[in-house]
Amino acid sequence: MKKVIIRKTEEIENWRRNINSEINFIPTMGNLHNGHLKLISTAKNDNSNVNLVSIFINPLQFDNKLDLENYPKTVDNDIKISFSNGADAIFIPSNEDIYPANNKNIKFLKAPIELSSKLCGLNRIGHFDGVCTVVYRLLNLIKPKNLYLGEKDWQQLLILKNLVLKEKLNVAIKSIPTQRDFDGIPLSSRNVHLSKNERKLIRFFSSELLEAKKNFQQEKNINLNKIIKKLSEKKISIEYLEHLHPHTLQKARLEDNISLLAGAIRCGKTRLIDHVFLMKRRPIIAIDGPAGSGKSTVTRLIAKKLNLLYLDTGAMYRALSWLILKENIDYKKEKKLLNIFKDISIIFKSNTYSHQDVYVNNYCVTEEIRSQKISSIVSKISSIKEVRKFLVEEQRKIGESGGLVAEGRDIGTTVFPHAELKIFLTASIDERAKRRKFDKNSKDLREVDLNTLKELIKKRDFEDSNREISPLIKANDAIEIITDRYTINEVVDKIIDLYNDKIPKETEIK
Ligand code: PAF
Repeated sequence: MKKVIIRKTEEIENWRRNINSEINFIPTMGNLHNGHLKLISTAKNDNSNVNLVSIFINPLQFDNKLDLENYPKTVDNDIKISFSNGADAIFIPSNEDIYPANNKNIKFLKAPIELSSKLCGLNRIGHFDGVCTVVYRLLNLIKPKNLYLGEKDWQQLLILKNLVLKEKLNVAIKSIPTQRDFDGIPLSSRNVHLSKNERKLIRFFSSELLEAKKNFQQEKNINLNKIIKKLSEKKISIEYLEHLHPHTLQKARLEDNISLLAGAIRCGKTRLIDHVFLMKRRPIIAIDGPAGSGKSTVTRLIAKKLNLLYLDTGAMYRALSWLILKENIDYKKEKKLLNIFKDISIIFKSNTYSHQDVYVNNYCVTEEIRSQKISSIVSKISSIKEVRKFLVEEQRKIGESGGLVAEGRDIGTTVFPHAELKIFLTASIDERAKRRKFDKNSKDLREVDLNTLKELIKKRDFEDSNREISPLIKANDAIEIITDRYTINEVVDKIIDLYNDKIPKETEIK
């Protein structure tokens, strides 16, 4: 594809018509560094869309005239390195193009107060309004499918996600982690202004944040005053240092598994921001839903794509049921059950087909636990108080350090009520019966006729939803997905998008 430079807003429309492709959009203010280049190359590697980079120093987001005048301008080099890192087109509009004198077509936007009145918004009046206005204008001109932004400007990222939702813009926001220089400081166009000594101070600031992140993993606790004291001793002028909820920017709560430690400091004339995410454990996705909703397939694929552990809690109930049947145990007698719990070991092992096998006391039961015989008793067994208590504890042990996607019926409500993402997957009875009939794992069900299957599913739903302990109900904060009209891959992509929206990419970095 021929690389193009577009300078006029009118040319954008023409260009869009000719490319015959969706667009990845990477907005910048120029003076590109490796952080920008990472955005461009990530977009290139993500899909086969056309990559458009914009270079526009947006006067509306500068609250200080001098800052605007001093903003580094390196357009020739920007063009060169954008193209060599995966840009297909570069849009370099003038001020008049973006903000025509008559202000025709310009919607001047206000960033939401809850997100914009703190952190960087405290001392940069109107900054985020300016960012929203220019990004909205650019999105309307370019109409991209994906918008790529850096997590370095986390507050900006939240505000722009809010803008996309509020204005119902048809664009997906993709983010990349903060890119750091060799000495640990975040890459920023403003770093060029730093003297040697100022850079040393920033390095100290960033290393304190990174240290706090490391300590938090062990101590699950943060002492802001201690950090402030250490920075003050180095005569670092702190504009803010706050420990917040990563999405609402309200004060972090004890139960927040992921929180944001964000700060801004002044070094000479330069103001720099940095942040880290503090995590008690790796993220957990809870996927609940009735039989036949597609949970297992979807969960397995998500685990693979996000490199998470796949915790099939249903298989654990089936495995226990299998042992009860095999040993002919009277599960109505509590003592007999407690005896089983002492000896049973249920573990999952990946097999060569990148699926998981289930072992009960080292014996592989993957196939046997899917039999109709087990299906007919598992609901009863899983409604026994002691059984649930035992297996929920086992599941929580597996989830202690997070990093898993669990499927079941009470994951979001009982097992992992603090899971970062809760999904309630469901489908109509007709659809679920059809899926069950053609499920290659449900050997015995292929012979059962569709109407009988529907009745079986209704019965199972009734039992699961009406049992006393941990009934199948949607958690208040779960997102419901009705899968009838979607392919498996569409459901998986939808859940991965929701996950990416909630979990900063940065948390994946050790
Ligand atoms: O992050 C930036 O560089 C700018 O705020 C943006 C998003 C390009 C808008 O001018």
